Amino acid sequence: MGFLIFLLVAIGFGNLTEVIFHQEALEANAYPIDTASVASATVADVAMEEGPSIAELLQTASVEKGESVFKKCAACHTPDNGGANKIGPNLWNIVGREVASKGDFSYSDAMAEHGGNWDYELLNRYLTKPKDEIPGNKMVFVGLKKDSDRASVIMYLRSLSDTPMELPTVASAEEAVDEAAEEVMEAAPEPM
Ligand code: HEC
Repeated sequence: MGFLIFLLVAIGFGNLTEVIFHQEALEANAYPIDTASVASATVADVAMEEGPSIAELLQTASVEKGESVFKKCAACHTPDNGGANKIGPNLWNIVGREVASKGDFSYSDAMAEHGGNWDYELLNRYLTKPKDEIPGNKMVFVGLKKDSDRASVIMYLRSLSDTPMELPTVASAEEAVDEAAEEVMEAAPEPM
């Protein structure tokens, strides 16, 4: 992040000096420089809006804290192997499980038709604001706004299994940011 901000400032400053000095040679470059600053702004915006990835958040999440956050879920969900469905389905083995796949629970159409598996990204998005992620689903829960609460409860859900799903690696997320930064570098003007 710090690097991207530096890049933005550097490119912004480049444009400014150009405006002040009106150098002919540099004027030819005006258009590509503009594109570069737009591109870097976009990369920075995306990184800021999305915040840390679930892979990063899980690195500092704890099962113990998640168990305590789960009290908010326990009115509707049991966590134990073979536990009963309540208002919501039993959540044993939920991480990695196919969405809406407990045969003895009656899901909403929205949930039943969603498809896919409960991977870390989907759980993270769903638990942020269930209504937004799967419109029409019948889980009446406002969501967990705090990154750390979500990460901890997902860490706890992961523990509800004899064979917990592998944790996601942070490297893949970092590589994506690095690649985006490289593209910006390539589009940027030569350093002055
Ligand atoms: C007021 C009751 C209620 C609360 C509180 C609640 N849930 Fe749910 N949950 C439901 C219902 C009902 C469904 C089924 C939704 C549907 O079929 O549309 C559901 C579905 C789910 C599913 C999908 C299950 C599947 O088999 O596909 C997950 C995951 C889940 N809840 C996690 C949580 C977590 C974690 C919390 C706490 C942070 C929580 N829920 C809080 C009622 C609740």
